[in-house]
Amino acid sequence: MRIIGKRILIRDITFKDDEDFYEYAKSELVGPNAGWKPVPSLDIARRVIASYILAKDVFAIELISEKKLIGTISIYNYGIRKYNKVKQLGFSLNPKYWNNGYMTEAVKLVIDYIFNKTDCEVLEVGHHSDNYNSKRVIEKCGFIYDGRLCKYKKLYDGRLVDADFYSLTKEDYERLKRYE
Ligand SMILES: CC(C)(COP(=O)(O)OP(=O)(O)OC[C@H]1O[C@@H](n2cnc3c(N)ncnc32)[C@H](O)[C@@H]1OP(=O)(O)O)[C@@H](O)C(=O)NCCC(=O)NCCS
Repeated sequence: MRIIGKRILIRDITFKDDEDFYEYAKSELVGPNAGWKPVPSLDIARRVIASYILAKDVFAIELISEKKLIGTISIYNYGIRKYNKVKQLGFSLNPKYWNNGYMTEAVKLVIDYIFNKTDCEVLEVGHHSDNYNSKRVIEKCGFIYDGRLCKYKKLYDGRLVDADFYSLTKEDYERLKRYE
């Protein structure tokens, strides 16, 4: 995978990204908002990267000006809809780089890739109901609200969270592009 945008590059993640990934994966501001426990050490960060490489569904977001991994974006080949040709997005970013529009840029690049280069018919995305940053990114990218799944997930600390889900069909995407 290699998608070049104005400020960011989406590419395969490698073990050379370990320190950049750990820099934010250890933060309480990141994992818990996306449903995972902060990564406790550089060694575990490497193991997480190994699992991403193996699964081939989590990609690096590199800030071109700094040649640095500042986040990841995931493209899962399944969603909450139980039929084929559905994908689901996930994402997280180093808090040092929040509120610069980087994730919105990354998600838009990946949406273009998915609807132009794969056979995906419905793209889904969701966020914990209290995660306003993520909600804004999703809205800015044109996703259409589907609804709330109450008590969607039990987090690693036992908390039950509600989640809001959104989707974009290939037809929605083509309509969006016509008005861009
Ligand atoms: C969600 C996340 C990826 C956003 O990345 P980002 O690069 O900062 O996103 P952007 O800069 O493109 O957009 C952020 C938007 O949230 C808004 N925002 C930030 N804090 C907010 C708050 N407390 N309430 C409402 N909106 C808020 C910003 O103003 C901006 O919207 P705007 O352009 O309308 O002003 C990042 O916050 C993150 O990694 N969070 C932790 C992990 C996570 O939540 N992952 C998503 C799981 S679904």
